Amino acid sequence: MKDKIRELIKQKNGIILAHNYQPPEIQEIADLCGDSLELSIKASKTEAEIILCCGVKFMAETASILSPEKRVLLPVMDAGCPMADMVTPEALKKKKDQLGGIPVVTYVNSTAAVKALSDICCTSANVIDVINSIDSDEILMTPDKNLAQYAASKTNKKIHLWEGYCPYHDNLTKEDVLSAKAEHPNALFIAHPECSPEVLKLADSVQSTSGMIRFVKETDHDSFTIGTEIGHLYPLSKACPDKQFFAASDKMFCEDMKKITYENVINCLENPSFFEVKVPENIRKDAYTAVKRMIDLK
Ligand code: 13P
Ligand code: SF4
Repeated sequence: MKDKIRELIKQKNGIILAHNYQPPEIQEIADLCGDSLELSIKASKTEAEIILCCGVKFMAETASILSPEKRVLLPVMDAGCPMADMVTPEALKKKKDQLGGIPVVTYVNSTAAVKALSDICCTSANVIDVINSIDSDEILMTPDKNLAQYAASKTNKKIHLWEGYCPYHDNLTKEDVLSAKAEHPNALFIAHPECSPEVLKLADSVQSTSGMIRFVKETDHDSFTIGTEIGHLYPLSKACPDKQFFAASDKMFCEDMKKITYENVINCLENPSFFEVKVPENIRKDAYTAVKRMIDLK
């Protein structure tokens, strides 16, 4: 099946992008695995005619926002992100009016319609740079309250929170981390900024998923407790096969990130019209401005 997928994607002049949380066998067929920022940059630069996105819906939408002339495919159309659904365009419009039009920074883990109402997007890899690029002392951040609190702890700006969160990262407790630390006392604890502030206080380093890969490669340390979605242990172990990685908690398992299989990918490539993600042009134009501003900061 692996060979068939690679053959089909080549015939169709496509590329396969996979998020770091995807199952190992899906990461193995991808042209690029990465964090949300790396996947967005690749989607904005590729010459391919088809972008097959192995991730969740907002990632495919971001690719469609950046490359409207390309065919963007998502092999499982109901692979979503519960956090992205915690802010609607209607609720955001209302909040913007209440706050008197202060700039809105929206995490890429959001719908295209919400991005379209935002001034700029961010990912976990660039959130501080994005916040610092804004010419205002007051900002509204959506939808992740944990990412917003992490950003607030690193800048002097007043950040208004949206009450959204990732159910799997927010689920990691201080007690889970303390017991993981007791079990592996020599391991460094690396956490994703979607974790709660009390968990981040215990972290030796706070990183996006690809930031974690760079961090473990660069340090001399050889064991790590990982505070992010459990699938990320695969790319970390692949990057550093001689180092040890422990999950901070088995509860950090994102079901949506695990829906894609080889069968789905083949079906999607053979019947692409059923798996196309296309952001309507009236929404795409404004969403593009917000995503492009973020990408241009790099
Ligand atoms: P990053 O890979 O950008 O750190 O994002 C994590 C995430 O939750 C994606 O759904
Ligand atoms: Fe969304 Fe959390 Fe799953 Fe990432 S891990 S896709 S933020 S629910």
